[in-house]
Amino acid sequence: MKRVNVGFVAVCVTFGIAGAVAIQAQLPGDGPRYENGTDLVFPADYRTWTFLGAGLGMTYDDDGGAGNPQMFSNVFVNPSSHAHFLETGAWPDRTAFVLEFRQSGSEASINRAGRFQGDLVMLEAEVKDSRFEDGWAFFNFGRAGALADTAAPLTGERVARCIECHTEHTAVERTFVQFYPTLLEVAREKGTLKPGF
Ligand code: HEC
Repeated sequence: MKRVNVGFVAVCVTFGIAGAVAIQAQLPGDGPRYENGTDLVFPADYRTWTFLGAGLGMTYDDDGGAGNPQMFSNVFVNPSSHAHFLETGAWPDRTAFVLEFRQSGSEASINRAGRFQGDLVMLEAEVKDSRFEDGWAFFNFGRAGALADTAAPLTGERVARCIECHTEHTAVERTFVQFYPTLLEVAREKGTLKPGF
């Protein structure tokens, strides 16, 4: 009778399961990836994602952010979620958004008036993912030059403002589609704008 090496079988089973779990954590392709379940891995290729729109000097303080240098804000979303939005006017589960802030410059090279984008300043992110209690989470990857490889979901006071503003003032779900002109059209057509927009 052949003897089965129980240790060998156990190793195969363990690594088989670990491998399957690792693959599961990476799917589907271009959405958010995590470590330790909920720490968002910095999406290093976000600059190849779909560009939704840019703001210049957008501020939410009543004093208009007086005195602060005007920064550009650029918003990106993973391409498969963008494709889904074009079809439905809604975001699928496992969607990731990146918001980057860049310095604005003027009067360099041939530029005499107007403003162009400069160095990265800081980077934030947001996901729609059913692994989080209310289906959404917010992240801060920090400042340029010291961007984190992974970011834990913001909690407590640090996330309260994000949630409040992204719930009360957003046109579609928790996102500012009113500032992304091509998506605004889609949401209008699909009837997914919140009341008031
Ligand atoms: C007072 C309102 C306000 C607060 C507070 C706020 N945001 Fe936003 N957020 C905005 C606006 C407005 C935009 C659209 C920006 C643009 O068009 O450039 C935006 C866009 C974003 C986006 C792009 C996707 C989307 O939802 O449209 C991310 C990611 C984001 N914010 C992350 C955060 C995080 C993280 C926090 C908390 C640390 C936060 N925001 C707090 C107003 C807010």
